[in-house]
Amino acid sequence: MSSMTLPAVLGGRPVRNRPYPRPNFIGPSERALVAEVLDSGVLSDYVAHAGPHFNGGWFVHALEDEYCKRFGAAYAVSVNSATSGLHAAVAASLAGLGDEIIVPPYTMSATATAVVMTNATPVFADIRPDTFCLDPDDVRRKISPRTKAIIAVNLFGGPADLQTLRAIADEHRLVLIEDNAQAPGATIAGRSTGTFGDMAVFSLNCHKTVQCGEGGIVTTNNAVLADRLRLVRNHGEVVQSMRDHVPDEIAGLVGYNFRLTELQSAVALAQVRRLDELTDNRITMAATLTNRLRNIEGITPPYVGEGNKHVYYLYAFKIDAARFGLSRGQLRAALDAEGVAVAEGYVRPIYLYPMYERRVAARKRGLGAGIWYPGDGSPVRYERGICPTTEQMHFAELMTTNICRADLTDADARELCDAVEKIVEHRTDVRAALQGRGVS
Ligand SMILES: Cc1ncc(COP(=O)(O)O)c(C=O)c1O
Repeated sequence: MSSMTLPAVLGGRPVRNRPYPRPNFIGPSERALVAEVLDSGVLSDYVAHAGPHFNGGWFVHALEDEYCKRFGAAYAVSVNSATSGLHAAVAASLAGLGDEIIVPPYTMSATATAVVMTNATPVFADIRPDTFCLDPDDVRRKISPRTKAIIAVNLFGGPADLQTLRAIADEHRLVLIEDNAQAPGATIAGRSTGTFGDMAVFSLNCHKTVQCGEGGIVTTNNAVLADRLRLVRNHGEVVQSMRDHVPDEIAGLVGYNFRLTELQSAVALAQVRRLDELTDNRITMAATLTNRLRNIEGITPPYVGEGNKHVYYLYAFKIDAARFGLSRGQLRAALDAEGVAVAEGYVRPIYLYPMYERRVAARKRGLGAGIWYPGDGSPVRYERGICPTTEQMHFAELMTTNICRADLTDADARELCDAVEKIVEHRTDVRAALQGRGVS
């Protein structure tokens, strides 16, 4: 047998012997707009004072207008990160100590930390084993008289079950916040993610399809929420002190400096205009992966609901080790040897982070009163077993690859499939070799 067809763990030639290039999606349009900002000398144009500069400068407005247009929103409020955007959105919901907010445990930590930042209590509902997003049935089970809001995350670039979550939120008069950091451009039956929530949060950090280094956007159709978001963004207590009438419920809204600069806004403006161009190749590469991987016994490619669009921030597939013939760890080790990029699972279920698990030990220091207060009899728990599907996905079944990007090609996707097929063909020997090296 030629060394071409032998898996690398058995001494064959790896399918890939060069690192993936560092992506660079900054082009002439970004450079041109940044040059305009530099030529103007106005790098940021905010003042924490009622008046024309309370809401930022020319590029901040242009960026926000572009998001309104692209996502059919009446208002867009730019901020310096999606973390800040989530914090502002939870604060704008007027959540605080004693309120519960339902979040998925399988997401980037900031989704839940935003709740902690307002001293409300994150309540974790499980995910669906196909979309990896919130399971509406478990959301229903987790609703209590204290529930104030739901944060739905469109994870990995695929939509959560937003129509059902919207209906649940309406039925129980809850605020629905969409964390759309990973899924700009995804749709449900032609309707964009980011348009189902009362507010939707987008990220502009350097890993996202549309980026300016660091940044975020919150969209909403609600003028009252938009006003609160802007107060949180820019030292709103000062502006409230200059208003004739301040309703009691927002008098205590704390303002931060969450302002995005003109420079960052210029980059993000050029980028969001290129959203489709930066997304299309992700979808093409994902289709190549799915068309080949779905033929392999024991592998389940990402689920995409009928009529929906997934934008593959990550390509997440499942492995059933018994049917596949190798454990997930063995497949990962064999693929590592082939030089292709895969990871086991995503992030640890958030409720297992020390901040949550050890809430009693951390009492009385810093923010997080909402994590600690359930000592008063609330049934909210943070411990292994509370979201079994999340744990099964993370610890046993899920694998991800981040190779679906605008700058890679179909050849890169085919290479990953070649590697998996080669490993499958030789799985008995691969298993024996890896077991011999202690990979069980
Ligand atoms: C789902 C999700 N929410 C929130 C964030 C936080 O985004 P940012 O880095 O812009 O604060 C991220 C970033 O990775 C994310 O993936």
